[in-house]
Amino acid sequence: MESTHDCRTMAVANEKGGVGKTVMAVNLGAAFSLKGKAVLIVDADPQANATRGLGIEVPEGAPTLYDLMKDPAGGPARDCVLKTRWDRLDVLPATVDLAGAEVELVDEQGREYRLKDALEGLWESYDVILIDTPPSLSLLTVNVFACAAEVLVPCQTHPYAYAALEELFDTVSAIQKEINPELTVTGIVATFFDARTRVSHQILEKLKSHPLYGPLLLKTPIRINTTIADSALVGKPVLFYRKRSYGAVDFMQLAEELLEKGP
Ligand SMILES: Nc1ncnc2c1ncn2[C@@H]1O[C@H](COP(=O)(O)OP(=O)(O)OP(=O)(O)O)[C@@H](O)[C@H]1O
Ligand SMILES: [Mg+2]
Repeated sequence: MESTHDCRTMAVANEKGGVGKTVMAVNLGAAFSLKGKAVLIVDADPQANATRGLGIEVPEGAPTLYDLMKDPAGGPARDCVLKTRWDRLDVLPATVDLAGAEVELVDEQGREYRLKDALEGLWESYDVILIDTPPSLSLLTVNVFACAAEVLVPCQTHPYAYAALEELFDTVSAIQKEINPELTVTGIVATFFDARTRVSHQILEKLKSHPLYGPLLLKTPIRINTTIADSALVGKPVLFYRKRSYGAVDFMQLAEELLEKGP
């Protein structure tokens, strides 16, 4: 990172779909902002769920991440950043157009570094940049890994999600070798944890006792909580929707754990 200002850049990633990536990017972002950090959430998923989850409707014709990736020299990244309704919480939004970037960049030189180039000039304005990723190993995900220093891995406490971790770690190793040697997995977070079910406890135990995953498992699991889904539906982080819900409490605790742990 070029500037002297310390900005933590965290990708929230797991190639498996529906494990809680977007909910984590949005709510951890909200929790960090409540802790006084200046936060930017970058929506690198054409599904644009993080953008919507923050209650943002991209104005017609407004530049988005797509425009930045197509032409990083086309204009300052700052022009694409939108403020949310909450203090210290901004978003670099996506629309479905972003899916086109994949195809359009395929033959371009340096296509893996488009996002990194695009974010130039934003690092010094934020304490934390959280990047939501799509559920696939796409050129978009590679771009995210090329510019992030940390990876947070939500893992649903379900056998299929557990099995998918191997793929994620293979991807991270390949990226470390070829594209970004600084990329590290900061932590695995158990999500959709349901204390009443045996499978949740079993998967948590498997994570804890695994030689690679165990030391990376963060202490705070995110419990299953329908309020989280309700809040996403109304375009608010759960911390600003029901601050006493399990979801809000868990994300606040996860933010504290990550701040204590450091990069
Ligand atoms: N802890 C939770 N408790 C209850 N519902 C949750 C929880 N976390 C996420 N959800 C809900 O589960 C669904 C999937 O979550 P989310 O969109 O965050 O997953 P994702 O990994 O980003 O999915 P995709 O791979 O499609 O991008 C959403 O409807 C979300 O509101
Ligand atoms: Mg998502």
